[in-house]
Amino acid sequence: LVIVIDFGGQYNQLVARRVRECNVYCEIYSYKTDIEKIKSMNPKGIILTGGPNSCYEEGAPTYTKDLFELGIPVLGLCYGAQLMQHILGGKVEKAPVREYGKTEVHVDTTSKLFEEIEEDTVCWMSHFDYISKVAPGFKITGYTKDCPVAVAECPEKKLYAIQFHPEVLHTVRGKEILSNYVINVCGCAGDWKMDSFVENSIKAIREKVGDGKVLCALSGGVDSSVAAVLLAKAIGKQLTCVFVDHGLLRKNEGDEVEAVFGPDGPYDLNFIRVNAQERYYKKLAGVEEPEAKRKIIGEEFIRVFEEEAKKIGAVDYLVQGTIYPDVVESGLGGESAVIKSHHNVGGLPDYVDFKEIIEPLRDLFKDEVRKAGLELGIPEYLVFRQPFPGPGLGIRIIGEVTAEKVKIVQDADAIYREEIAKAGLDKEINQYFAALTNMRSVGVMGDERTYDYAIALRAVKTIDFMTAESAEIPYEVLNKVMNRIINEVKGVNRVMYDLTSKPPGTIEFE
Ligand code: XMP
Repeated sequence: LVIVIDFGGQYNQLVARRVRECNVYCEIYSYKTDIEKIKSMNPKGIILTGGPNSCYEEGAPTYTKDLFELGIPVLGLCYGAQLMQHILGGKVEKAPVREYGKTEVHVDTTSKLFEEIEEDTVCWMSHFDYISKVAPGFKITGYTKDCPVAVAECPEKKLYAIQFHPEVLHTVRGKEILSNYVINVCGCAGDWKMDSFVENSIKAIREKVGDGKVLCALSGGVDSSVAAVLLAKAIGKQLTCVFVDHGLLRKNEGDEVEAVFGPDGPYDLNFIRVNAQERYYKKLAGVEEPEAKRKIIGEEFIRVFEEEAKKIGAVDYLVQGTIYPDVVESGLGGESAVIKSHHNVGGLPDYVDFKEIIEPLRDLFKDEVRKAGLELGIPEYLVFRQPFPGPGLGIRIIGEVTAEKVKIVQDADAIYREEIAKAGLDKEINQYFAALTNMRSVGVMGDERTYDYAIALRAVKTIDFMTAESAEIPYEVLNKVMNRIINEVKGVNRVMYDLTSKPPGTIEFE
């Protein structure tokens, strides 16, 4: 176990992630965590993260000096490095030149941190304070043009201070530097795997929940599915999952979720499927404006969920599938942790009666959640499901949503997804789906005139879903999809491919 002590920096979770990538288990604790607690966990190494403060200022986050006398290796990063130097008698002050971005750094390759690393490499810097004088017993083992102490260390005491951010990918050899620390300096075995996360989480959930009751809103997406299975494995029938089928899911999706979580599935939990399709269609009748549709879908979810929760009565915990990027997106992040409202459903009901929220995936990134899902034996089609918005097909149908239109878009989308997978493109395109334009136009089928809908195919490549470009799908594949949709989906006589990037478009089609 390596413990990361969080001082509020923006890359803290990345540190934990990189350590886990070295197959070393790692947990993050606030700097307010008592040293006795840290000691009791018997970590092999400690990492102090960056943070937005100046360590010499009154009231800045700090830690007891005893931390450096435990005989446990400590690595300080950025603010953590400055704090270590400050506490141990070095000097930190405002840097004459603020460094930000990719920066050339020269390192001493005789240091254990830089084994097998070039003397001159590129690191990611982001600081306005700098270490102007190292603490007694420390030597400088790295510098840049503007930063005389980019790295300082006291190998006898296993204390290391790095001004740059090895956890950020722009630090070319960052991963190796962190690996050198956790493996060579701390002596971790590097044999941890996702199954240990699963095992530890199950244990922790059992301890926390005791014989309490837990309620989970299951959407069928990756995150809530993995969270639900973790809970199911930990506490079995003490868990009740409520799955609201709002009639805006992809083709067969409701049944797929039921197959996994329902009474015929492999898990021992209480599963409630609420077939609320008609209710939603009724509410959505005549509504064309996209935001109005979203609002109705979100509010109706809350209402349905509340009704179910009332039937179940008071519970002790509510599970949410929040993952780390959700925490970052909502601007929270470890130190200032506040519970985020479910971003899929626009806030959970106020009066579901529960004591506390459990978020077992809060520290994981999406690909780590997927790995955990596979470890847990969740079927691949669920684990590798592409992102699907909470409001579902409601925001892939332009204009009024009706049962008939939902059926059309479901069928077209199923064909599209099938052909993309057959062509082997499913892993390289980040998101793809069919949407129903509200446009009808004249066509000819056999000898007959038709007046039917146009389907739009969308496929995008993106890293962060904030910007995106349309994917280049081979013409033969598009042609095949077009052919099948026209022939197999009643009510469609035209298929178009949406070339728009984001911006100016959005990924969804609403
Ligand atoms: P846009 O359309 O904003 O989509 O470019 C960006 C990404 O966010 C997803 N998306 C949502 N996901 N609830 C969600 O869980 C929503 O209300 C929602 N709206 C958009 C979209 O699928 C894409 O991946």
